[in-house]
Amino acid sequence: MSEEMNELVREIEVLREKIRYHNHRYYALDDPEISDAEYDRLFKRLLELERQHPELTTPASPTQKVGARPQVTFSEVKHRLPMLSLENSFSDQDIRDFDMRIKRFLGDDSPVQYTVEPKIDGLAVELVYENGVLTVASTRGDGYVGENVTQNIRTIMTIPLTLTQKKNTLPPPDPLEVRGEVYMDLEAFENLNRERVDKGLQPFANPRNAAAGSLRQLDPRVTAKRPLNMFCYGVGTMNASCETHHELMILLQQWGLRVNRPYIRICDTITDVIDYCRHLEEVRAQFFYEIDGAVIKVNRLALQTRLGQKTRSPRWSMAYKFKATQETTVIVKIDVQVGRTGALTPVAHLKPVELSGVLVRRATLHNQEEIEKKDICEGDTVIVQRAGDVIPEVVKAIKSMRTGREKRFVMPSECPACGSDILKREGEVVLRCPNPNCPAQVKGSLKHFVSKGAMNIDGLGDKIIAQLLKKGLIREEADLYDLGFDDLLTLDKIKDKSATNLLRAIDGSKKTTLARFLYALGIRHVGEYVATLLANHFGDIERLGRATEEELTGIDGIGPQIAESIVTYFEDAHNRDHISRLLQTGIELEAISSSSPSPVAGKTFVMSGTLSSMKRSEAKEIVTQRGGRIASSVGSSTDYLVVGDSPGSKLRKARDLGVIILNEDEFLKLLVEEHG
Ligand code: IVH
Repeated sequence: MSEEMNELVREIEVLREKIRYHNHRYYALDDPEISDAEYDRLFKRLLELERQHPELTTPASPTQKVGARPQVTFSEVKHRLPMLSLENSFSDQDIRDFDMRIKRFLGDDSPVQYTVEPKIDGLAVELVYENGVLTVASTRGDGYVGENVTQNIRTIMTIPLTLTQKKNTLPPPDPLEVRGEVYMDLEAFENLNRERVDKGLQPFANPRNAAAGSLRQLDPRVTAKRPLNMFCYGVGTMNASCETHHELMILLQQWGLRVNRPYIRICDTITDVIDYCRHLEEVRAQFFYEIDGAVIKVNRLALQTRLGQKTRSPRWSMAYKFKATQETTVIVKIDVQVGRTGALTPVAHLKPVELSGVLVRRATLHNQEEIEKKDICEGDTVIVQRAGDVIPEVVKAIKSMRTGREKRFVMPSECPACGSDILKREGEVVLRCPNPNCPAQVKGSLKHFVSKGAMNIDGLGDKIIAQLLKKGLIREEADLYDLGFDDLLTLDKIKDKSATNLLRAIDGSKKTTLARFLYALGIRHVGEYVATLLANHFGDIERLGRATEEELTGIDGIGPQIAESIVTYFEDAHNRDHISRLLQTGIELEAISSSSPSPVAGKTFVMSGTLSSMKRSEAKEIVTQRGGRIASSVGSSTDYLVVGDSPGSKLRKARDLGVIILNEDEFLKLLVEEHG
């Protein structure tokens, strides 16, 4: 090799190493060392060299990974009113001091009314509506100038492109500058990270990073695949005539914007404020999204105006920050779990430690590469964090605390569940068990099949699945539909009532959508979004089964890797048998997609009380026609509770679970709402 060529090879290797290192800092440690612009320069240089010398490009190069770090060149948007931040408080005393300061500033000792609401851990965004139409959306940036992310924001289902105006309510002002937090649900975050690890990409450190990374994609199609959501919590300039923050939130909701209404509480005393902040901290782990504190606001807008702002934060509001979600503990042992795709995940068993109110015993270590990079051993004292996951992760080992008795961990060469030889596919970081009958994979597939976004069988949890398999009552998914009442009664802790409910849930799942069913099959690379694309395009499963790779890649959003995976799946006679056994159980597939851009499709509704405009049976029909489903009781998979006159106990349950509660008007609006 010539000297020049040697030089080039070296430069490429150095660039790749640097980019991998900075990816790790950005995604895994949430602690970038270099600016985005600098990162982009490294990345572009590597791309250029690889383009000039394709023979030096390898599958392991960071340029070969789709969904690498977002490239940032958005245009700028100047905020009409600066987007401020909040002062933080950490104790009861801090909150009382805040109240005192306010009274002192106002020169009046009479009680001030406050609102308290969850502080969502995402990123601040401003939406500008002109003439009721969304014209510009921007990130906070430095508070004065943000990035123009309008195209990406438009892909978020729950953000209306046009505001609505109801009879007998105030019309939205023109322009309306709404502010809120864009975030990613915990479940979506976990799914995204699982997919990323599966593809050998760095997982995001936390849902906030995942949301920010997803919103700051140059290609809105990438953003569209990421399940982002937004809660609105305030406005920039606005001349609407309302008197309090609480009323303003109701107005925003009437105009079609999403606000976190069930959790906004009006507090008449500072003791109430403290109590509610504590309450939110206690129930924090029950939220479907990450909250990192509570936001306290003076309720009266006129008082807010009088109080004004300091340099960077308003005087009328303060954040109460929850205790940290990172803790130190010890790794007692590391073992390996086998997932439904056969992927092996090393899991650390920890000395139990409390993280944001939840006792944590295990943490994921992702894969061997991560263990090596973080240099983690059995016996190490480590920092663990709840990155929104039910299973938290190990951030790093504290090496200064080593005693010399720590043990290195090496991934097994045989599957711990079935003993098969482990495989490593070319270009992948993950190790896999190749045996499709591996009991761990079978159990994982069943869990996936019944999960919320798939067949949505409420009440069929891990423990029941494990027992059903162990007792030989089921061997695969289709067997679920043959289960009888007496079978279920043989299980631990299952009595008449729970057996009846479970059978009803299993039976109810037979009426589903094609998209849900496709997702439930667990075809590699077919997540909920791709399943929806396929359902929309093909309409029935036979047509999909006959599709060629060319036909599949012709669909916007489906690349060669997904297409190949689908074709391979349907070529396999076992898989085709599996599908026909499922369909023989009486599963009916509606062509409508489960997550088409409609707020109804794929959602579970529960009705309570009587509606004035329609009978329940009619409501049920409309919801089902639009791809939603109606369940009889409120549970963890309920998306909306619709309350009519004299609602019963369901309302309390829904509030406890944080289910969205709709009155009749809101429900009707949802039914007619067309997005896009
Ligand atoms: S009100 C003047 N309400 O927290 C700023 N902020 O640390 C008024 N945040 O930049 C903000 N949830 O991005 C408000 N319910 C909520 C919030 C919230 C999250 C974020 C927001 C802000 C940051 C301040």
